[in-house]
Order: sequence, then structure tokens, then C-alpha cells
Amino acid sequence: MVDRKLKVVVTRKLPDAVEARMRELFEVELNPTDQPLSADALAAALARADVLAPTVTDRIDAAALAHAGPNLKLIANFGAGFDHIDIAAATARGIAVTNTPGVLTEDTADMAMALILASLRRMVEGLRAVEHGAFLGWTPTWMLGRRVRGKALGIVGMGRIGQALARRAKAFGLSIHYHNRKPVPARIAQELDATYWESLDQMLARMDVVSVNCPHTPATYHLLSARRLKLMPRHAVLVNTARGEIVDENALAQLLADGGLAGAGLDVFEQEPAVNPRLLKLPNVVLLPHMASATAEARADMGDKVIINIKAFQDGHRPPDRVLPSML
Ligand code: 8YV
Repeated sequence: MVDRKLKVVVTRKLPDAVEARMRELFEVELNPTDQPLSADALAAALARADVLAPTVTDRIDAAALAHAGPNLKLIANFGAGFDHIDIAAATARGIAVTNTPGVLTEDTADMAMALILASLRRMVEGLRAVEHGAFLGWTPTWMLGRRVRGKALGIVGMGRIGQALARRAKAFGLSIHYHNRKPVPARIAQELDATYWESLDQMLARMDVVSVNCPHTPATYHLLSARRLKLMPRHAVLVNTARGEIVDENALAQLLADGGLAGAGLDVFEQEPAVNPRLLKLPNVVLLPHMASATAEARADMGDKVIINIKAFQDGHRPPDRVLPSML
């Protein structure tokens, strides 16, 4: 229990209602300009805050955490992914970390499904053709994509978002396959009619569509390596709404350029906000600016979760969405 208002430093502009509630509850420092914090500004924020509310655009590694002041006890991340925070270093300093799981599941799964549809049905290529005046009339053989129904979808990472994608994909007639550290409970596997592949290599070799839905951790960095990407059939497409670092982006761009893969739908990139220039040159990719959770509803709910985590901490409770080193 902390009987004064906590000094909460928020690193980016959040939805108005979230900021208004934060002003009521905390001594809050907001960022109305929405400019991402420089490394120095982040270090200063870590030094003066009781609670930091960062986002994916803040690199909170061990070097940044070395600037943490004695009052910093909680990092309440606005976002589900926490690969930008060194959890072990924070824990070693007695700083708790929380995230916002659950509230962006459905929206992210919608975007993964949208990227599958867009990739298989060449929607962005069609859009570009119309925009560039290349629609010269219907023909029987132009803009042929691939039928969605009946294709095999391999989901890499069958957590909340992977399962939400599986539900959608099943309704579109895709068969559901997944690779995960362990199989999902039998009840869920049955509901989704999902086949578990212990070997990622074996699954990749047999899929028409692969969707990346696992968190980025040291164990999943370049999980889809050059070697593994080459295992996928030439007609397959890859969709990534998780983190760019899970896929070897250069190898992916090379394969797409060489015809080793039919297409890709990417919402995330290895060096955000930079997009690999080799990907930008390709016709068979759908590239989005990390917007899978970008709905007004999700961002409001994410803000609520940040507030609930900070409030629980302030009231002497264990914040509900704690991230523990064992979750890596
Ligand atoms: C968030 C995301 O908007 O929550 C995540 O892990 O990737 C995004 O959808 C972002 O992380 C905000 O910090």
C-alpha cells in the first residue's frame, strides 16, 4: 500500500479516456507530443518514476535499467509482448513487470486472418493494379490467387492469439495444424480439430499457409531461419503478426524474390520502424505498419489493464498481469 499518489511516467500518447483516468488516480507525466523517448530521456524517466508505463517503442534493456531510481518498483507495459524489456534484469532489481494480455487477442487474430486472405487472394496486388490504371477489363486468367478452403494452416505458437486465429481459419475451411512447446489441452484440440506437430520442420514442409503467433524470446529469435523457411513448399505463404525477429527477414525476402515462397503478409519487422528495402520491392507481399492491435477498443482496453495493474500495485496487491522470468 502506497499512501501517496504514485509518480507514473507514460512514454507515449495513450487514448484520451485512459489518460484522463490516469490523471485522476496518479501523479502522471504524459507525453502529449507522442515522440518516442530517446535513450537519455528514457534513462531519466526510469530514474524519477515510481512506475513506468512504456510501450514496444522503448528499449528497456539492462543498460537502461541501470538508471532506475530507488523508487521504481513497477514497469506496467502497454502491450502484450514484452521482448523490449529485460525481465531478468528488472526482476533482479526488484522491479515488477506487467503486460496487457487477453484484450488484443481477437483483433490480432482478425489481422492474421486478414493477411492470410489478402496473401492467398492477392488483394493488395489487385488494389495496386486498380490504383495504377492497370485494370483493363476482366479476363479469365488475370489475378488468379489460391483458394482458401481446403488449405493447411500451420500455426507457430498456439497461445491465445494462435487459438483465436485457428477458430477463424476453421470457419474459412482451412485445416488446423500447430507447433507449440506442448500440445494444447485435448478439449481445445478437439474444438479446433487441430493437429499437433512436435517437429516444426516437419510441419513447415507440409503447410500451405504458416502463421507466426508465438512470443519473441531468446528461444524464438529467428525460429523461422533460412533453413526452415526453405522447408516450406514453394506455393506456401507466410504471415507474421507476432514479432519480426522470429523470422529471418533477409532470408524471407530472398526466398520471395526467387520464387521459393508464393507470398507473405507481414505486420511486424525486424528493425521497426524500418522495413527491409528488399521486402518493399516485392510484388507478392502485404506489408502493414504493426497495426494488428490497432482498434480503438483494444487500445482502450490495454490502457485499462495498465491502470488496473498500477492500481493493484498501489493498493498493496499483486498486479494481475505480472510477467515472470519463468514465462520466457
Ligand atoms: C502493441 C503488440 O500495440 O501488444 C503487443 O505485443 O505487438 C502491439 O499490438 C504494442 O506492443 C504496444 O506496446
